[in-house]
Amino acid sequence: MSDSRVTNFGAGPSALPESVLQEAAKGLLNFRGTGIGIAEISHRSKEFTAVLTEVESQIRTQLDVPQTHSILFTQGGGSAQFSAVVLNLLARHRLLHPDLSDDERVLDYVVTGSWSKKAAEEARRLGGGRVNVAVDARPYSKDARSFDNIPAHDTYSFSPDSALIYYCENETVDGVEFSNDASSPASFPFHLLPQNALLPLVGDYSSSFMSRPIPRLADHAVVYAGAQKNIGPAGLTILIVRKDCIVDVDAAAKLGATPVPITMSYKTLADGNSVYNTPSVLSIYISGLVLKHSQELGGVKYYEEVNKRKADKLYAAIKEGEAKGLFKAKVKEGSGSLMNVVFDVLGEGAEAKFVSGAEARGMKAIKGHRSVGGIRISLYNAVTEEQTDTLIAYMKEFLAQ
Ligand SMILES: Cc1ncc(COP(=O)(O)O)c(C=O)c1O
Repeated sequence: MSDSRVTNFGAGPSALPESVLQEAAKGLLNFRGTGIGIAEISHRSKEFTAVLTEVESQIRTQLDVPQTHSILFTQGGGSAQFSAVVLNLLARHRLLHPDLSDDERVLDYVVTGSWSKKAAEEARRLGGGRVNVAVDARPYSKDARSFDNIPAHDTYSFSPDSALIYYCENETVDGVEFSNDASSPASFPFHLLPQNALLPLVGDYSSSFMSRPIPRLADHAVVYAGAQKNIGPAGLTILIVRKDCIVDVDAAAKLGATPVPITMSYKTLADGNSVYNTPSVLSIYISGLVLKHSQELGGVKYYEEVNKRKADKLYAAIKEGEAKGLFKAKVKEGSGSLMNVVFDVLGEGAEAKFVSGAEARGMKAIKGHRSVGGIRISLYNAVTEEQTDTLIAYMKEFLAQ
């Protein structure tokens, strides 16, 4: 690592591999021998079109995305998708069931943290359907009001023919993540979903995308992720959309559905090969470099193993601190995220001391989200096992003091 760089444990925008940043710096000056920098080149040039194709193909190969699904690129981040998934899937539902009233169009939300809660609020705000909270994790928490767990399977109640079934795989703020082991009680309860052939299942993968394979990807209507955690700079949103969910939103509007803003329509993105309007060229380019780097290391399977090892070691260090009465895990055992590990440092002034000690050792951005406080260590793909070990060594030193 170059001398001036520190370890960035931030939750997003977050660390990127240094070799990628060095290559990107060259591309900023002269992209692939064109003599034009990547931030200056036309998004319709053949050189940039080649980048888009490569990024799509990297994602398709590494995540094993089936041909039933399109990979689309857009902007607006996860927050824009809170709205877009609702509008596009309500339009689909309208085309399938034109005669239902708004109240009969149900949108099922699995609320396990701050981001899925926000997404459900946006669905309520947009209207056009009735939000059913299939489960809210808070009543099952230690204090009956925190997002600290993935609820047990028998607590979910899904509707029979909803327009959308929504969940967030990894809750970045609260540090809660669905397990990708189907036998775990913290897995997503796929077996409880209606047995329709084409489920309207939507997964927000913003903070776990490319960190490991996506369970039951083929059963999803939409998987989306902002790039700014595991794969690139902010500005790019990646969508994996099953083709039956790319619908004629204008035809649906004629039947009474809410009109969909043109750049939010999945059909616009698909018909325009994700360049209906100017895309986030630089972010797509850097994401392509990150994905190539990931492929060279062994792809999501490689990261799955390393990320698991990093998180296991960190949770073990927190447990050690708990035994000494100095740390306190915020999340129930078994529900903890591999990407965002959250805990409290107990005692008057102890948290500030912990943070400043970490900063003095070149480890930054470890403070929890402003809404929940505490410590949050984000262990995205670009954070190496060695950097994680250095943090753990510091935690042990802190405990010993
Ligand atoms: C899981 C998750 N979903 C959605 C969002 C919102 O994303 P954005 O800030 O790109 O709109 C975030 C942001 O951190 C997130 O972590």
